[in-house]
Amino acid sequence: MINISEEVKHVLVSAEELDTITTALAKKISEDFEGKNLVLLGILKGSVPFMSDIMRKITLPAELEFMKVSSYGAGTVSTGNLKIHLDILRDGLENCDFLIIEDIIDSGRTLSMLVEHLNKKGARSVKTCTLLDKPSRREVNFTPDYVGKEIPDYFVVGYGLDFDEKYRTLPYVGIPNFVFENK
Ligand code: IMP
Ligand code: MG
Repeated sequence: MINISEEVKHVLVSAEELDTITTALAKKISEDFEGKNLVLLGILKGSVPFMSDIMRKITLPAELEFMKVSSYGAGTVSTGNLKIHLDILRDGLENCDFLIIEDIIDSGRTLSMLVEHLNKKGARSVKTCTLLDKPSRREVNFTPDYVGKEIPDYFVVGYGLDFDEKYRTLPYVGIPNFVFENK
């Protein structure tokens, strides 16, 4: 039987640790957004498992939205371009306190441009939550509001994160074997 976990043997964040991380983040978010109109905005596709875990641990009422985007760096321009494949289809953003849910922050371009996009659309407030942070890779000056775990500069997959659309379904975050084999 094929077992994809055989291709990702180095576990960086186990299923147990992911459970601990999402519990702690959800507790903090539930405290901080008390009295607000929390709208969880998941960024497809990488945030799906993280979004799914965190939404069920947040004790406040929350609405769900999704966007699908990709970012392209543009040389020396600080923020590059955000390509929007799926935008939020709703009005009345002046009553929404968004919390963007992302799998990982790397250069920082995607999250910084998303915040700008929502502010331009008239959102009342916009905060960001990322499961993983690779601070050493930052190219734009951006600090997420909530971070699950800081990791070193390794290419990681699993729990939503992909390599060429593979491995998103793994229940943990790991470094694929090929990263070590190609060294
Ligand atoms: P940023 O705009 O450079 O911060 O890019 C963030 C996006 O790059 C994430 O949403 C991921 O899709 C992708 N990404 C960055 N690092 C990794 C990784 O180690 N594994 C898989 N995807 C990654
Ligand atoms: Mg992504």
